[in-house]
Amino acid sequence: MKILLKNNKEEIGKEIASRIVELINKKPNTVLGLATGSSPITTYKELIKAYKEKKVSFKYVTTFNLDEYVGYKREKDSYKYFMHHNLFDEIDIKDVNTHFPDATNPLAYDKEIELKEIDFQVLGIGADGHIGFNEPMISFDSKTHITKLTKQTISDNSQYFESIDAVPKEAVTMGLSTIMKAKEIVLIATGKNKRSAIKALLAGESKECPASILNRHPNVTIYLDKDADPREN
Ligand code: GLP
Repeated sequence: MKILLKNNKEEIGKEIASRIVELINKKPNTVLGLATGSSPITTYKELIKAYKEKKVSFKYVTTFNLDEYVGYKREKDSYKYFMHHNLFDEIDIKDVNTHFPDATNPLAYDKEIELKEIDFQVLGIGADGHIGFNEPMISFDSKTHITKLTKQTISDNSQYFESIDAVPKEAVTMGLSTIMKAKEIVLIATGKNKRSAIKALLAGESKECPASILNRHPNVTIYLDKDADPREN
C-alpha cells in the first residue's frame, strides 16, 4: 500500500485526475469506479477541466458508482443527481455507460461489474472507516447489498440534506469483495475527522474498520493531507 501525503485537496484532485486522464488516453474504454461525497470533488473538477481543454474524451468510458441512497425524498438528494451535477453533465460520457446499484436487485451489480472489470476505483472514507456504505462489522466477503446507515454516517451526511430527518436510513452499496475486484484503488482522506479511520486502516485488518480490507489489495494508494495523517502529531 502506497501512502502519499499532499498539501491539500486541490493537489490530491490534480494528481488523481491526471492519472485517470493518462489511463483513458491509453485505454479509451476504461472502466472507472466512482465515489460521491466531498473527497472526490476536486478530482471531478480537474477531469472536467481536462475534458474542456480537449485533453481527454469519456466517449467510451464506463462508470460504476459505489452506492446509492434508498428512499430519498427528492431527486436532488440522490447520488445519481450528485454525479450528474458534479461530473457527468459536464463531460461527453454516455448516460447508458454510467451505472448505479439497484436496490431491487443488488446482486445484479456484481455480475455487471464482473463482466466489465473496474480498472480504477476512487474511494473516500467515512469517519467510522466505511468505504462505499460498508459500515463497521460488515463481512469482508460482502457483495452489493442493502445496508442500514449508522447514526454517525447519518449525522456526518446530514450536511447535504435539508435536515437530519431527511437523510435516508438505508442505502445500497457495492460490497467489500466487489470493491476489492478493482485492478487499482485510490482512497482520499482529508481533514481531522478522518484521522482515526486512517489510523485504524493502517493498523491492519479489522472488521471494525471496513476500509482495512484494502491492506489485502496489491495496488492501493492512499492520498492524505496533514490533518488526516495519523503519523503526524
Ligand atoms: C458517504 C459515501 C462514501 C464517502 C463518505 C465520505 O458516506 N457513501 O462513499 O466516502 O461519505 O464522505 P466525504 O468525502 O464527504 O467525507
